[in-house]
Amino acid sequence: MARPRTLSEIPTPALVVDTLALERNIRRMAGFFASGTCRLRPHFKAHKTPEIARRQLVAGSCVGLTCATVGEAESVAGFCDDVLIANEVVGPGKCDRVAALTRACAVTVAVDSFAGLEEIGAAARRAGVVVRILVDVNVGQGRCGVMPGEETLALARRVASIGSLELRGLMGYEGHLQALHSRTERETRTHEAMQLLLTTARLLRANGLPCQVVSAGGTGTYDISGRIDGITEVQAGSYALMDTDYAGIGLPFEHAFSVLGTVISRPARNRCVADCGHKSITKDHGNPTVKNLEGAVVTSLNDEHATITIPPTAAVKVGDRIELLPSHVDPTINLHDVFYVMEEDRVVDVWPIAARGYPEHRHRLP
Ligand SMILES: Cc1ncc(COP(=O)(O)O)c(C=O)c1O
Repeated sequence: MARPRTLSEIPTPALVVDTLALERNIRRMAGFFASGTCRLRPHFKAHKTPEIARRQLVAGSCVGLTCATVGEAESVAGFCDDVLIANEVVGPGKCDRVAALTRACAVTVAVDSFAGLEEIGAAARRAGVVVRILVDVNVGQGRCGVMPGEETLALARRVASIGSLELRGLMGYEGHLQALHSRTERETRTHEAMQLLLTTARLLRANGLPCQVVSAGGTGTYDISGRIDGITEVQAGSYALMDTDYAGIGLPFEHAFSVLGTVISRPARNRCVADCGHKSITKDHGNPTVKNLEGAVVTSLNDEHATITIPPTAAVKVGDRIELLPSHVDPTINLHDVFYVMEEDRVVDVWPIAARGYPEHRHRLP
């Protein structure tokens, strides 16, 4: 199939990215981290797209990339020299892959259990390499993470005692605070959460353990955690492309991507239906918003249908193109194979979403 040259030639549903808005977002975040002592470690899981990650690294202020899975880390190891898997890696197969990756770049893994630690330690030993470790601390999100204080210290001591592992420090993701609408509440509670992390970092050092890295933060708290003394890096991801959920809390980043659909039906004056249902745009953070169509509201998403209420006077007809702004960046992008890269109406490139899904299952069939 020939590559489309304009928006109207792109088969729908499709992901389109406004390359100038993307560049502005990337530059704005890099600019923020150009001053102060904290650095940026963009989260690759948001877009899973090497072409975007490369641009984030080129923009500067970065210490490397953050990933959520081993598959993502494998996707970036060829062009990034320092990767943090900010997640627990469990199972000998995955731990062996992490150990193998350390031959391509520095790899750090989050750990929150003795069992997990033994597995990654054994894999590193088998491979004859050293894997870097951050102890994952629960700073209030209540997902993974050991409790701050003594529990973290005990796990950190064990890390330091395993020859194939190197204790680098702590991470504590304040995920429960990212989307708080009140700036004051977001600030107060983020400061409280980061104090748990920093007090624990001091405890480690007081006990003679290294704690060079204290990693935290996301798009909703980058300018709070990123300005707290002692936090060394921030793991923000969504800022590059933005969604309506984050737009609702008043961040200085623009919508840089959308899902392009085609109107396939206008069964009533006040209703049209487009071909971009929840197999192309997720609704876990609410229905998407219609771009550039005053008064239009997405009322439901089915597999391959977006039902949209429109003003009866709207000049929407079957065959028209429509753009929806996703409410959640990460899972929406994960549904697609490529980004069509737009400069206004022109397709200037097509970027593979190389790490979408779980790439390790893409075996070559005979
Ligand atoms: C461990 C971790 N760090 C950071 C983030 C921040 O990502 P974002 O900036 O997209 O909110 C996430 C998002 O879920 C996460 O799970």
